[in-house]
Amino acid sequence: MSQRPTILIVDDEKNTRDGLARALRKDYHIAEAENGLRALEWLETHSADVVLSDLRMPGMDGMALLSRLLAREPRPVLILLTAYGDIETAVEAMKRGAYDFLAKPVNLDRLELLLKRALAERQLGAENKRLKAQIDAKYGFENIIGASAPMQEVFDVIRQVAPTRATVLIQGESGTGKELVARALHQCSPRVHGPFVPVHCAALAPTLLESELFGHEKGAFTGATERRRGRFELADGGTLFLDEIGEIDPALQVKILRVLEERRFERVGGTETIEVDVRLVTATNRDLRQQVAEGKFREDLFYRLFVVNVTLPPLREREGDIVLLARHYLQELAAENGKTITGITPEAMDALTAYSWPGNVRELRNVIERMVVLSNGEKLTVRDLPAALRGPARAATPRSGSALRDAERQMIIDALRRHKNNRTRAAQELGIHRRTLHRKLNEYGLRESPKE
Ligand SMILES: Nc1ncnc2c1ncn2[C@@H]1O[C@H](COP(=O)(O)OP(=O)(O)OP(=O)(O)O)[C@@H](O)[C@H]1O
Ligand SMILES: [Mg+2]
Repeated sequence: MSQRPTILIVDDEKNTRDGLARALRKDYHIAEAENGLRALEWLETHSADVVLSDLRMPGMDGMALLSRLLAREPRPVLILLTAYGDIETAVEAMKRGAYDFLAKPVNLDRLELLLKRALAERQLGAENKRLKAQIDAKYGFENIIGASAPMQEVFDVIRQVAPTRATVLIQGESGTGKELVARALHQCSPRVHGPFVPVHCAALAPTLLESELFGHEKGAFTGATERRRGRFELADGGTLFLDEIGEIDPALQVKILRVLEERRFERVGGTETIEVDVRLVTATNRDLRQQVAEGKFREDLFYRLFVVNVTLPPLREREGDIVLLARHYLQELAAENGKTITGITPEAMDALTAYSWPGNVRELRNVIERMVVLSNGEKLTVRDLPAALRGPARAATPRSGSALRDAERQMIIDALRRHKNNRTRAAQELGIHRRTLHRKLNEYGLRESPKE
């Protein structure tokens, strides 16, 4: 038996199979199948490290083959070959677990690079499983606090995609924790021992940003007195976080697209081609799809970035999380400031949960910090609140969807259960007023049972 990795090529066109086999034969053991069904038959009695499959084939197509492969253990790496116009399907396939896709006609250099990387990452599979097992699923995840249903969903996505190389786009209002999520993706990935390199794209003029990202050679422009390595190079083996990606100008968008597709680039003013192994995570507080529609952002780049999408809900839509976060920051900041503040009164907590938090978690932290610093009491009270929060509670702010309500309802049921239906104690634990609890019990139809 050969020591070389096995690649199964699945394509209905014999010419394509032959061409690929010829190119890969020197480094790999090659098998061929003319459609998904044939491929599965072959896999009954053999095993493949990589399945290189066409997307469109008569009989069983690439997508169907993918779903069958997902159930196999060990699972081969699946790389799809796509024709013009298949990009959305290919992106969908990546979301479901395909490793990557390549456009036809296949660029063989690109394919070889992809295969090398895929096989190296496959070896890390066992390590990934161990990492996953360490994750705390309850109220927090890598310093990210959130018990609400939408945040639990965010944790699930992170857990699922962190071990992969998939590009992740994080969207959300300012202060919702986009950078925190980017760091968590790095922390939970096999790249954790590599660098995490953040770049704030909106902070630099386009030309500066280009040399910041790609580096420059000595003499590339006035002021370039030294050769300098860019952030892509510095992030080799790790994660590059491009924050405010929506602000990048079109010329630079093209260059980033090229790095994503080819994993190589040249420094500004340079000719040497540099290859990097970087996992890209991007963030924006704009609606990137809208920017594509308006012609401000390249569609092809958008699809490359959008492979996995994490949307962080605004804090005002996560009332339960406000309570958790307020308590968390109180503890942390009281300790930091040498104060012995033991809690937040129910009235003050009601005001905190009623506020709309345009600055989201960052604003909440600042508010708690200010209250802690200025307070002299044992608890934070309404009198410690900044003026903006002391006004009448927002009456008719639209609450978000049913997932959120479900989460809140569940928190209430759990608290009542823990306190044997003692509503006063349950309200205390939830940090809300007994009156508020009553209102919510009515709202959620929980008034009859459980009884007090
Ligand atoms: N769910 C959370 N749990 C704990 N801390 C959080 C959470 N979300 C945000 N934070 C904290 O709030 C602050 C803002 O978060 P972060 O910088 O990640 O936001 P952002 O979405 O990147 O904001 P911007 O768009 O303004 O850059 C940080 O101090 C971060 O630690
Ligand atoms: Mg940020």
